[in-house]
Amino acid sequence: MTITAENPLVRIEGLHKFYGQHHVLRGIDLDVNRGEVSVVIGPSGSGKSTMLRCVNLLETISAGRISVGGKLIGYRDVKGRLHDLKTKEIAAQRREIGMVFQRFNLFPHKTALYNIMEAPVHVKGQSRDAARRRAMELLDRVGLSDHAGHYPSQLSGGQQQRVAIARALAMDPELMLFDEPTSALDPELVGDVLNVMKDLAKSGMTMIVVTHEIGFAREVGDRLTFMDGGVVVESGDPREILANPKHPRTQEFLSRVL
Ligand SMILES: Nc1ncnc2c1ncn2[C@@H]1O[C@H](COP(=O)(O)OP(=O)(O)OP(=O)(O)O)[C@@H](O)[C@H]1O
Ligand SMILES: [Mg+2]
Repeated sequence: MTITAENPLVRIEGLHKFYGQHHVLRGIDLDVNRGEVSVVIGPSGSGKSTMLRCVNLLETISAGRISVGGKLIGYRDVKGRLHDLKTKEIAAQRREIGMVFQRFNLFPHKTALYNIMEAPVHVKGQSRDAARRRAMELLDRVGLSDHAGHYPSQLSGGQQQRVAIARALAMDPELMLFDEPTSALDPELVGDVLNVMKDLAKSGMTMIVVTHEIGFAREVGDRLTFMDGGVVVESGDPREILANPKHPRTQEFLSRVL
């Protein structure tokens, strides 16, 4: 995939986030082009989840701008001043973005199939038949077509995570965010989830992936960003950064995880 500077799907500019006095994000700039897989790594507490949560409108931002598909996220720009969007408008923006968390957050009392159908039926107003057909397609895509009737408790962690990915895809997002999707899994279950993510990347989905899976970053990533202390320390071609980290903090971090 070619990396061009123009027309990014996601543009994060000068993003700051405070929790009270705690200055967690200290001026993040990050562009993600359409179809690109942007991998983010960094030590615990560096602000990776907070950044994703800002993109997905789960947090308000303290300063800066985030746009997705050229549209400002969370705010309306009126003559250079930002005004909060209404709750309904925020919900509409959030629907365009899929998010997969470390913990799978499936509805425990619903089957895999119903977990996937839920939002298309109740949020998008799709017919149950159409939603069921699409959910079955998605289950097939994540290798679980024979598990449609299983409840989360009857699925392994890796299977639950694949259902969670299918559930996010059912809303046809233009962007998928992954926050350490494999770090709660037993090692032998990680590969299946990464393979689903690889296929998704190949299909052209734009993805921001926070992960400790360096192999995934090297193989699938179009860009690798190393964050520390709420700033982007280094960002560029994954193979280049992993082979030749320029910044001492990147070197130190990679020496611990590689
Ligand atoms: N809701 C919150 N209220 C107050 N502080 C928070 C909140 N969420 C996160 N923080 C703080 O913000 C900082 C960044 O947290 P964040 O979860 O973004 O880090 P992270 O890079 O995702 O770490 P990890 O690798 O452990 O997931 C941490 O110091 C954390 O304690
Ligand atoms: Mg995190």
